[in-house]
Amino acid sequence: MQRKLTVLWKTVAIFLVASSLLFSFSWYYTNAKPFISKWFYSSGWNSVNETVTETVTTPLEDAPPSPPSNSISKNGNATLLEMAPSYVKAIMTPEDTSFPRLACPAPTSDRYLYLKTSSTNMTHGSTIRPKYFFALDLHQCASLLPRLMGSIIESIRFLGPQNCALSIIEGRSTDGTFEILFSLREEMERNGIKYYFNSSDINPTVGDRIKALAELRNQALQPLLDHVDKTSPTTTTTVVFINDVALCMEDILELVHQRKYRNADMTCAMDWTYVGPDPTFYDVWIARGMNGDTFFSIPEDGNWNSAWNIFWNNPSAHERQRTGKPFQAFSCWNGATAFTAEPFLESKIRFRTSYEHECPQGEPKPGARSCGILGTAKSQ
Ligand SMILES: *[C@@H]1O[C@H](CO)[C@@H](O)[C@H](O)[C@H]1NC(C)=O
Ligand SMILES: *[C@@H]1O[C@H](CO)[C@@H](O)[C@H](O)[C@H]1NC(C)=O
Ligand SMILES: *[C@@H]1O[C@H](CO)[C@@H](O)[C@H](O)[C@H]1NC(C)=O
Ligand SMILES: *[C@@H]1O[C@H](CO)[C@@H](O)[C@H](O)[C@H]1NC(C)=O
Repeated sequence: MQRKLTVLWKTVAIFLVASSLLFSFSWYYTNAKPFISKWFYSSGWNSVNETVTETVTTPLEDAPPSPPSNSISKNGNATLLEMAPSYVKAIMTPEDTSFPRLACPAPTSDRYLYLKTSSTNMTHGSTIRPKYFFALDLHQCASLLPRLMGSIIESIRFLGPQNCALSIIEGRSTDGTFEILFSLREEMERNGIKYYFNSSDINPTVGDRIKALAELRNQALQPLLDHVDKTSPTTTTTVVFINDVALCMEDILELVHQRKYRNADMTCAMDWTYVGPDPTFYDVWIARGMNGDTFFSIPEDGNWNSAWNIFWNNPSAHERQRTGKPFQAFSCWNGATAFTAEPFLESKIRFRTSYEHECPQGEPKPGARSCGILGTAKSQ
């Protein structure tokens, strides 16, 4: 199984850049080591020595600390709470082998070092809007959590806990997902990680699915919008929204890196699943190439027989994807995405139901902020 890397990018309007190889849940563990050790084959895209280390702005001296967010709407199941600690341990410990999980390459390069901001004063961490805001909506995926949450924790440790916040909305799980994430709080506090966790009864399988998913995504972002810091520049925060996928720390850092490096508003990974022997691009509903077309041809009857003929009518994306280079796309979400928090913080957009083509293509001003970001993407 070949791990493929693809980066999509778009510098002007919204959307993407980005990255990687996320395997959808059911394939998340494997004893193969399907990884490429180098992300990019072409040196042209490989210059990592960016010097943009943003420094944190002056702390707000008198801002009150963020209120502890402990009012969660349920208590959890006693049996499941009992098994939660072993998951929590696996999540917090990359070397833990209690649960099968996708093997990740040991991070080697200095590629992402510049993303760290070491100078932040911990004392003020909670009063400054985080530079990296991780957001997730999760449902019924306990067995995925050691890999998914483990990689997020590794990334947060790498980026500096004082620069990060993690926000999770769980919903309707009966497999321990709620209990594990609930139990994670203590460890998060011990590690100095700002953690917002809540549970929602919203059920996307009943009624308007997209509306429900959009609301859940908005809930996950809410702690960022509610943040006490209203004065730091809105451009300094990157939201990393991750679905229920198996991914590695490197995937996350690559998304963040590509967004900065290309000065893109949004970068996306590519989400691969298996519908047959070869990796199959999953998120066809949202993803559109710069030619406005889906990534592979889907005829009227909806069959995926052309799934392996990706970018059949888009030679430049085809070539770049084939050679592991980032490429520009018109829209994307896929398994993970990193985007600027600016339009959300400035109340210009929220997740909502929408059509892809509602978004005007190629708005010349940096960041076509009026576009609705689609609250769709595979989740659950
Ligand atoms: C990156 O920086 C390191 C150390 O400063 C240097 O050795 C290396 O050649 C640089 N690489 C590029 C691509 O500029
Ligand atoms: C958690 O969700 C419930 C129900 O949606 C809500 O009433 C409560 O205020 C939320 N708590 C936090 C801390 O956001
Ligand atoms: C708690 O979880 C266990 C294990 O999944 C299940 O057997 C039990 O029915 C649950 N209890 C309640 C009250 O839901
Ligand atoms: C952090 O800020 C506090 C309060 O201003 C100050 O006392 C402390 O020395 C600072 N620590 C560092 C490492 O700068």
